[in-house]
Amino acid sequence: MNLFDVYPLNDVTIVKAEGSKVWDDKGNEYLDLYGGHAVISIGHTNPHWVKRIEAQLHKIAFYSNSVKIPLQVELAEKLGRISGKEDYQLFLCNSGAEANENALKLASFYNGRKKVIAFKRSFHGRTSLAVAATDNPSLVAPVNETENILFLPFNDEFALRGAFNNNTIAAVIVEGIQGVGGIIEATPEFLRTIRMLCDENNAVFIADSVQCGYGRTGRFYSHDISGINADIYTMAKGMGNGFPVAGISIAPKFTAKHFMLGTTFGGNHLACAAALAVLEEIEEKDLMKNAELTGSYLLGELKKIPRITEVRGRGLMIGIELPADKKEVKKHLLAKHKIFTGEAKPNVIRLLPALNIGKEEADRFLEALKLELKS
Ligand SMILES: Cc1ncc(COP(=O)(O)O)c(C=O)c1O
Repeated sequence: MNLFDVYPLNDVTIVKAEGSKVWDDKGNEYLDLYGGHAVISIGHTNPHWVKRIEAQLHKIAFYSNSVKIPLQVELAEKLGRISGKEDYQLFLCNSGAEANENALKLASFYNGRKKVIAFKRSFHGRTSLAVAATDNPSLVAPVNETENILFLPFNDEFALRGAFNNNTIAAVIVEGIQGVGGIIEATPEFLRTIRMLCDENNAVFIADSVQCGYGRTGRFYSHDISGINADIYTMAKGMGNGFPVAGISIAPKFTAKHFMLGTTFGGNHLACAAALAVLEEIEEKDLMKNAELTGSYLLGELKKIPRITEVRGRGLMIGIELPADKKEVKKHLLAKHKIFTGEAKPNVIRLLPALNIGKEEADRFLEALKLELKS
């Protein structure tokens, strides 16, 4: 059987990883500033994470959600405290798309409505409604097409006000910083206007924190910068440091009904152990502070490099927009300098490293980038 060929691949086989270093099968060492697409939050093969998963594996790996799972309660308490949303409720699932799918369903159950506002350049995942709310028609199969999603320009308060005209809006779904869209931040004023309009119209504010959340920007949810609370936060990537686990954090005004949401694998024992290890490490090592400080250092230094068109982002979610004649930089960073980075179209380098990278790693990247932009 062949693999279904849906991913364009780098010609690299990674066989070992530690912290922000990975090694290929030929023994080459790489610096990972892509974090396996924002997933590696506390470092590859983090010793505490390995120990916690291993210990759990010897006890029980999985049982269905038909029994009590105290690890879920422990995870909910810790997540509530660290994220500053102690009175919220947690539903656990397996991926970012699934988190957004459930958030949108819950919103529609809540107010009985169908229309969802999403934004240009958004990415919310590949399941049915999540992909319908993603601004990329090439990802939307005919069966996913729906009239229920309204795409508005990002950061446009006027357009937003105009769309809330007749109490039909179930929810607004918004990334605090658009990731796939090219590292574009929602302004605090825009997020506050979403909050106000949702309140006035009994619509649900869904903060997609799958990529920009979990401490990446120095705050637990990047939307926190605006000083408002969303009704539902969705999270995934950094939550398990590579173990598939996702969740939605749900405001107290939502009341659960049996079977309204559900999943076989969501919140299993192993996933909870992985997610607890991540939160323990974030707290103990003050990784949100490190994300803020190392991120500020990187952003400051990047802004001094003349050939860069624009530097965007916050904390360790950084977009470096390059001029059109510098299309090969990402490729060269990998091939010549052994540094993994992410990208966004048309010519943006995306940095999404582990939250515990330090100045040394940042400097290695800066030097390599300066060399590539010299000519
Ligand atoms: C903002 C955002 N939401 C949702 C998703 C989908 O997450 P997953 O690939 O885990 O389904 C992604 C993935 O890149 C994302 O960046």
